[in-house]
Amino acid sequence: MFTLCAFFVLFLGVVHCQFPRSCTTSGALRSKTCCPLWKDGSPCGSQSGRGQCMNGVVFKALAAGQVRQFYDDRLNWPRFYYDRACKCFGNYSGYNCGQCKYGYYGDNCDRQKTVVRKEIRQLSLLERKRFFSYLALAKTTRSADFVILSTGNRHHQNTYRFVDASIYDVFAWIHYYSMKPILINGTFDSNTNYAHQGPVFPGWHRLALLFIERQIQLLTGDEDFAIPYYDWRGEKNCSICTNEFFGESNEQGFLDDDSFFASWKSICSGFDYSDAYCQTAGDECQMEKLHRKPGVDPRVKSLPSFQDVEDTLKWRDFDRPPYNVSSQKNFRNALEGFLRPSDGITLERNMHNSVHIYLGGTMSQVPISSNDPIFLVHHAFVDKIFEEWLRRYNSTPQNYPENDKLGQGPNECAIPYFPCYRNKDLICRSSNMGYTFSNYQGM
Ligand SMILES: *[C@@H]1O[C@H](CO)[C@@H](O)[C@H](O)[C@H]1NC(C)=O
Ligand SMILES: *[C@@H]1O[C@H](CO)[C@@H](O)[C@H](O)[C@H]1NC(C)=O
Ligand SMILES: *[C@@H]1O[C@H](CO)[C@@H](O)[C@H](O)[C@H]1NC(C)=O
Ligand SMILES: *[C@@H]1O[C@H](CO)[C@@H](O)[C@H](O)[C@H]1NC(C)=O
Repeated sequence: MFTLCAFFVLFLGVVHCQFPRSCTTSGALRSKTCCPLWKDGSPCGSQSGRGQCMNGVVFKALAAGQVRQFYDDRLNWPRFYYDRACKCFGNYSGYNCGQCKYGYYGDNCDRQKTVVRKEIRQLSLLERKRFFSYLALAKTTRSADFVILSTGNRHHQNTYRFVDASIYDVFAWIHYYSMKPILINGTFDSNTNYAHQGPVFPGWHRLALLFIERQIQLLTGDEDFAIPYYDWRGEKNCSICTNEFFGESNEQGFLDDDSFFASWKSICSGFDYSDAYCQTAGDECQMEKLHRKPGVDPRVKSLPSFQDVEDTLKWRDFDRPPYNVSSQKNFRNALEGFLRPSDGITLERNMHNSVHIYLGGTMSQVPISSNDPIFLVHHAFVDKIFEEWLRRYNSTPQNYPENDKLGQGPNECAIPYFPCYRNKDLICRSSNMGYTFSNYQGM
């Protein structure tokens, strides 16, 4: 099972992103070092043989001149912040090697386990209620391990500050942060970001789901927890937009008072300031409530069909030049949804993108869409389609193309995961990362 692509933990074990709290002290930032003590009292648990503090936390550094042109704290990730970090050994992982790689459990990370992600309608009533109560807990529990970045002005480092957020909000923030326009020579380029519109799209989102899934496992002590997926193929309307599932919307698009997520608010709402990061973090009053308006947007009349998914899977090339929204006849752009899956040529909104637009409201404001928990079940299904493609074509990291998209090169770290994962290594079967999918409606 592990022969196809031994998931390279090149530098630093597993994901576990965003600024570890203990690495945001002025001392840590000044020395560009993120090697926190593990519970044995040594950095990276080195006394217990878990890992070691090492130099060099980027696989392919840009030349200094390039870095100046693209003055952007995320580029060359995580060099702007840290040069030294933990390299974890064996099955250990995490920012201080205190965690296990995905798929491993136990104090010594020697217990292997594969969880099964099921269609949300395959869950029993009890399982579904448990899922929603776990989400509520993640939304209200302050992350002990991570803080998020907020700025008054992205041009001025002295306005950067790290603030507390709940576990769910750290997840929502990761997506938002990856999507802010890139600062190039003093102007913002909104045609590129670090999670979309290029070959990074499927793997980047896979890491995001793994992050929140593991965070919830740790929070609840439930190692069997797996994110469910929403198989939207052929749906006439959003049949999970009811109060039994993700909530009905009222006339204004807010979630019904009797639904599970009625009181949820979006971190980083008012996202449309390209020159700042998440100004509303920590300010409840300024955060918008979730909203959703399924089926109302005239640009998308229906959810993707069974045939759309089948057509998407027929493209054997993972991605093709120019590796952006105009790429034709390839799986990535069809899946992401800038391409008509059947001909692979016509540029139109489909698949992943059309589900965001169809659901409307928070989900259609893509940078902050991760605030709506329906994002999880949507992306878990997108990931299932990715997994089906990996299986069909027996794909390997060599299928990830060289390309000129910033932050999307095969050897660059997926941004902003910390520690680092190489983009190309995410062309890898899910069973190598500790999860599989149930069968549902013939897939
Ligand atoms: C990692 O876990 C596997 C599976 O449980 C175990 O056989 C192996 O010894 C562990 N590796 C290390 C280095 O501890
Ligand atoms: C940024 O500006 C420099 C100097 O004007 C120029 O040489 C370089 O090509 C520009 N970079 C980009 C990516 O536009
Ligand atoms: C979806 O369509 C079905 C059948 O047409 C209908 O009964 C149901 O109320 C609709 N649900 C929503 C959320 O609109
Ligand atoms: C995609 O890349 C091509 C080639 O570099 C470029 O001409 C085109 O403008 C890009 N499309 C978008 C929407 O950025």
